[in-house]
Amino acid sequence: MSEPLDLAGPAAPVDLAEEARRLDAADALAALRERFVLDDVTYLDGNSLGALPAHVPARVDDVVRRQWGELRIRSWEESGWWTAPERIGDRIAPLVGAAAGQIVVGDSTSVNVFKALVAAVRMAREDGEAEEHGEAGEAGGGSGPVRDEILVDATTFPTDGYIAESAARMTGCALRPVTPAEVPGALGDRTAAVLLNHVDYRTGRLHDLPALTRAVHASGAYAVWDLCHSAGALPVGLDEHGVDLAVGCTYKYLNGGPGSPAYLYVRRDLQPRFDSPLPGWNSHAEPFGMRSAYAPASGAVRGRVGTPDILSLLALEAALDVWDEDGVSVAAVRAKSLALTDFFLRCVGAYVPPGRVESVTPAAHAERGSQVALRCDDAGEVMKRLIEGGVVGDFRAPDVLRFGFTPLYVGFADVERAARVLARTLG
Ligand SMILES: Cc1ncc(COP(=O)(O)O)c(C=O)c1O
Repeated sequence: MSEPLDLAGPAAPVDLAEEARRLDAADALAALRERFVLDDVTYLDGNSLGALPAHVPARVDDVVRRQWGELRIRSWEESGWWTAPERIGDRIAPLVGAAAGQIVVGDSTSVNVFKALVAAVRMAREDGEAEEHGEAGEAGGGSGPVRDEILVDATTFPTDGYIAESAARMTGCALRPVTPAEVPGALGDRTAAVLLNHVDYRTGRLHDLPALTRAVHASGAYAVWDLCHSAGALPVGLDEHGVDLAVGCTYKYLNGGPGSPAYLYVRRDLQPRFDSPLPGWNSHAEPFGMRSAYAPASGAVRGRVGTPDILSLLALEAALDVWDEDGVSVAAVRAKSLALTDFFLRCVGAYVPPGRVESVTPAAHAERGSQVALRCDDAGEVMKRLIEGGVVGDFRAPDVLRFGFTPLYVGFADVERAARVLARTLG
């Protein structure tokens, strides 16, 4: 694991503003900025709330006035409302390396963490029971392990930790918080499920999803990944790396809008075994059968709960057009993201007086998401002044300035300006 980048003092006198202009001129994604509603503000908070794609208001207007206002209840069929959760899931799928039919959109990330984690524990328990009865596993008739422990990323975004604690209590598991680096050593034959973040929300550290997933599988447990800070910013490769279950939000790098619904990925071969702790009428095999007994639908639909949040869902669907209509590849986005964060670190190193900030984001590309987090004294106050100066990032307690770089609309001139305003603010 690399050390955080040492931001050395002022670098050799290169004209970084001129370099930013050259980089922007050569940027194949630069024109995409026009597709977003932006102003003179340097917006580096897309890792919290993505910017508004310019065509979305007209689409939402159509959904409200025509689909709802004129067609009313007919829209469940005629406007494709009923099938929107899976249809939009299939739009997100290529962005996270999943084949169609494995993602359903709806509910919040928090709710989907709960569904995925409890379902993972239930599958692990089922494996143990099958082994015990000689139906599976090498033990063939021996006693299967009692899987009664959940590992959770100790550095996780708080909601995942709270939900893991409740899921553990509900399923009779012990909860063990460990850092992602400690996961391989903590896994054992009692581990049922492991809840991990692909990119750490505070430091921007990118965790090794393929290696950690392999380690979790080797111990016979299930991996649940939170993709909030990676989807739309870098390749995820869910199918390629055999991830079991994943969740993520759509209001950051996917620009779906405030509170836009989250998604749940259940790997195709696990879908028949996905036993949701929130079985609602929407995931029933026969939702309009109005039966008192629950029978789960097959496929990704099984991840649904209740009536989909149509207005938010269809705003998200419109926002995803930016990817499809412009043929944007995740690989190109990742390349630009790394160039942006590299350039930001260089500009900060050149402009900011030595010792005023320390990067807590790894220097190694393989360990960096699409944000840079700088530790700094009085970070809350500094961020307030940065925002007054036209540079919007955010503050994460206790001492972190967070800058998110959305390659679809952030350019190199934004990066240079942000570092310059930061230096002025600190100076
Ligand atoms: C990593 C991560 N997980 C979960 C959440 C919570 O998502 P929600 O509030 O949409 O449930 C967030 C929110 O920012 C997050 O960053």
